[in-house]
Amino acid sequence: MQDQAERLRQLVGKLNSSPVKERAESSFSNCRVITITSGKGGVGKTNLSVNFALSMASRGKNVLLFDADLGLANVDVMLGMIPKYTLLNVLNGQKTLQEIILEGPGGIRLVASGSGGVQELADLNETQRGRFLEALLDLQKQSDVILIDTGAGLHPNVLAFVLAAEEVVIVTTPEPTALMDAYGMIKILYREKQNPLITVVVNMASNQAEADEAGKKLVILSKRFLDLEIKYLGFVPRDPAMIRAVREQKPVLISAPLCPAAVSLGNLSDQLLSGKDPRAEGDLINFFKKVTQIFGVKNKR
Ligand SMILES: Nc1ncnc2c1ncn2[C@@H]1O[C@H](COP(=O)(O)OP(=O)(O)O)[C@@H](O)[C@H]1O
Ligand SMILES: [Mg+2]
Repeated sequence: MQDQAERLRQLVGKLNSSPVKERAESSFSNCRVITITSGKGGVGKTNLSVNFALSMASRGKNVLLFDADLGLANVDVMLGMIPKYTLLNVLNGQKTLQEIILEGPGGIRLVASGSGGVQELADLNETQRGRFLEALLDLQKQSDVILIDTGAGLHPNVLAFVLAAEEVVIVTTPEPTALMDAYGMIKILYREKQNPLITVVVNMASNQAEADEAGKKLVILSKRFLDLEIKYLGFVPRDPAMIRAVREQKPVLISAPLCPAAVSLGNLSDQLLSGKDPRAEGDLINFFKKVTQIFGVKNKR
């Protein structure tokens, strides 16, 4: 493992001075890379990711949804799509990234993950890595927003994606266990990243008061114990239409656009778009370089 991590560091070092880097800098876009995660599982990350993607696309944004939940790759399931190829086929050299991109509803594009992706990413040889980064560069040029749906919690696979991200949306429910796990994730981001850009969304709230209490609790805890400013964006109500939407494999923004959850999701997505922090630099190439680098280091520990 130590060898592998060392090899990765050397690779990243080389890539930093490669033509890929120069091209990345010369074609730097305004693309935002937003990672959606949580402390606890099943809190609604995938539903939020998919519906945010749809809502942003409806605002004319070019959106790419990247499924990075390597355990339960389910963005495609949520959209009722059956991907023939996934990121794994790209990493194995069987397909190019462009070839596996699926056209989803509402004009969004989707990269399905397949399981095991980060490990494979860490194992790429230099040529493969170069090719992968070149493909990311293209993706970045073609996109205004890239949303990355991750798994939950403290697994190294998830952490690599979260720690590599400039912008992190943490999803929680109002339940104490979910809140504590969300705070656990915030603490890790605080420890491992300088000045992390964290936005919290409370999902499945019974009402505004319950949601606001939960959201504000996280803001206050972070300020008091970490001296960290995080943003509470708002909430999505618990809504049976969301459960139906998942069952029908049709995002709620399409199947029930006027239901309370869909209206909230639209508003939150607009806020996310308009409330861009100047620190959100959105460099997809650096993001994936960091993912592999962090993954290598985490594996070594
Ligand atoms: N606002 C909501 N109201 C009601 N049920 C919801 C809501 N959001 C999510 N759910 C339910 O929670 C389940 C888990 O959501 P999902 O997005 O898959 O979570 P995660 O990606 O965090 O594991 C969904 O299948 C759905 O039934
Ligand atoms: Mg999910």
